[in-house]
Amino acid sequence: MANNKQKEVDQNLRQFIKDLGYIAGGGAILSTMPWLQSFTPAMAQSIRHEKARIGLIGTGSRGQYHIHNLLMMPHAQIVALCDDYAPNLQAASALVPSAKTYTDYKKLLESNEIDGIVISTPLHLHAQQTLDSLDAGKHVFCEKAMALTMEECKTVYEAYQKTDKVLYYCMQRMFDEKYIKGIGMIHSGIIGEVVGARCHWFRNHNWRRPVPSPELERRINWRLYWDYSGGLMTELASHQLEVANWANQRTPSSVCGMGDIVFWKDGREVYDSMSLVYRYGNGTKITYESLISNKFNGMEDQILGHKGTMNLATGTYFLEDVNSNQSGIQQLINQIGNRVFSAIPAAGASWRPETRDTYRPHFVMGNRNFSVTEGSSMIGAEADGSDAILSAFCQSCITGEKATEVVEECYSATLLCLLGNQAVAEQTTIAFPEEYKISHMKF
Ligand SMILES: NC(=O)c1ccc[n+]([C@@H]2O[C@H](COP(=O)([O-])OP(=O)(O)OC[C@H]3O[C@@H](n4cnc5c(N)ncnc54)[C@H](O)[C@@H]3O)[C@@H](O)[C@H]2O)c1
Repeated sequence: MANNKQKEVDQNLRQFIKDLGYIAGGGAILSTMPWLQSFTPAMAQSIRHEKARIGLIGTGSRGQYHIHNLLMMPHAQIVALCDDYAPNLQAASALVPSAKTYTDYKKLLESNEIDGIVISTPLHLHAQQTLDSLDAGKHVFCEKAMALTMEECKTVYEAYQKTDKVLYYCMQRMFDEKYIKGIGMIHSGIIGEVVGARCHWFRNHNWRRPVPSPELERRINWRLYWDYSGGLMTELASHQLEVANWANQRTPSSVCGMGDIVFWKDGREVYDSMSLVYRYGNGTKITYESLISNKFNGMEDQILGHKGTMNLATGTYFLEDVNSNQSGIQQLINQIGNRVFSAIPAAGASWRPETRDTYRPHFVMGNRNFSVTEGSSMIGAEADGSDAILSAFCQSCITGEKATEVVEECYSATLLCLLGNQAVAEQTTIAFPEEYKISHMKF
């Protein structure tokens, strides 16, 4: 059933993007997020009598989430559904009884009644299904990540460059209002020069789904096995590395790291604990950490600047007091007054606090702190941009307009995830390979 609150999210975002064009620096901000340019109320108005006819491939948990969102969009019509696992196809069909059902996606692609395909299958199928859909003359919206191997990413990217069809990847932070505004503020200089990024995703959940019979284990729990999944990197880090690059306006040139199965020793192959460092050419780094047996630290995307820190996931930022005119001793008195330290540390005459201070949060949107602390859902979070990016895809199915840089951002993030996994497996530092560089990337 239509949920007006979510419709509003989409409309609010359109209004926000329209407003961006008018406020000081809006043009400059939009120039670093060109995929938003056409996503305006005026465009929504001009296509209001048209509908993108959509076919979905993969109607599991994320596919059904997309169905719920599509059902709320006035410019979308779900006409076909495909899944080769009967319980999931039946569940999706119950949501859209009018849609034709298929068990073979190639048969669905033969239909002339479909403009755009939404792919929500396990990662190992993304590349082939995207290529087949483009070949069939359809526009494509595929879930992240782009593909399971670097070679496949390159093949898909080359196909995309040759096609006149639209291709989107579900990198929803690119359409998440708090991320758009927060990164706009970073690009306007609010936190000064970007000097690093700290991204992490902590959960306390085994990442498993119940399996009705043992032979379905790999099919249902595909995330846990390397033949189908890139583990924590492609499932979680892909979003966060994309954001770090978007903020930095660069692509890291090397990566090293470690990965282990430290707790969930249940037959899975993918790591449940990963710590990596991505290094940009100018020396700034992304420290990335993911652990799924302790959720204390939740999920955060922190961009660090020499004047402050932007916490994109919570929509808050914190300014450093680096230009304070106070003397060292006055700072010390203030710190003690604020009970930051329990004892007076012995230091030189020009003492300055070096350990963590207590920062007052500023808010990116109104007076709101988004409590995205855990991010434990395997389906996706509410109002995280997933509905807006899908809505933008449906608009593109009608207009035929490509989404500038969405594919490039996903290509870069996916390559970095796969390189991270490779660096961990080989226990070495890996430089970004020349053969996978694209002109979009700045190192
Ligand atoms: N963007 C996000 O925040 C986000 C969130 C959750 C999941 N995802 C992505 O969505 C994708 C699906 O994840 P999920 O959790 O829904 O998985 P899932 O296992 O619940 O669903 C996958 C579906 O694909 C079907 N499938 C498998 N092979 C098929 C084939 N050959 N033809 C047709 N259908 C086939 C399966 O039967 C299943 O119903 C993954 O790529 C995942 O990374 C993205």
